[in-house]
Amino acid sequence: MHFEQGNIHDFTLEEPADLIAMNRALHHVWEHDRAGIFAWLYDNLKPGGYAIIWEPAWPAERSALRDPARRTLSFQNLSEHIQGNHLLQPEEIVAAFAEQGMPTEIYRFAGGNQTVIVARR
Ligand SMILES: C[S@@+](CC[C@H](N)C(=O)[O-])C[C@H]1O[C@@H](n2cnc3c(N)ncnc32)[C@H](O)[C@@H]1O
Repeated sequence: MHFEQGNIHDFTLEEPADLIAMNRALHHVWEHDRAGIFAWLYDNLKPGGYAIIWEPAWPAERSALRDPARRTLSFQNLSEHIQGNHLLQPEEIVAAFAEQGMPTEIYRFAGGNQTVIVARR
């Protein structure tokens, strides 16, 4: 296993990867070039390889934020907007992988406030 560091908007791997993990980074690059990021993930994975995406889980219904357990998400999204980002619904990420023909599984944790999405090329 080895690690590489770079700007995903301008990043080249020497060879396709078995696994690419993005931990709480996708919402930072989504607005800039969503389609390009997902095409990059597809192009840089081996057939059968996995993308594993950890993201905060913005709820589909805003009324869900009234649950005290969701308040931290509200405040995080406020600070994300100041940076030009926004938190993503897991379903948006699943739809973006579907555009690449990549099936996904969604795993929720931290009381449903966080999600790991596993996508297979
Ligand atoms: C909320 S931090 C998450 C850091 C760490 N992965 C974690 O889970 O603790 C968001 C990360 O996204 C990275 N990031 C933002 N834009 C990026 C880009 N264009 N290419 C690569 N990484 C980027 C930042 O460098 C930052 O480390």
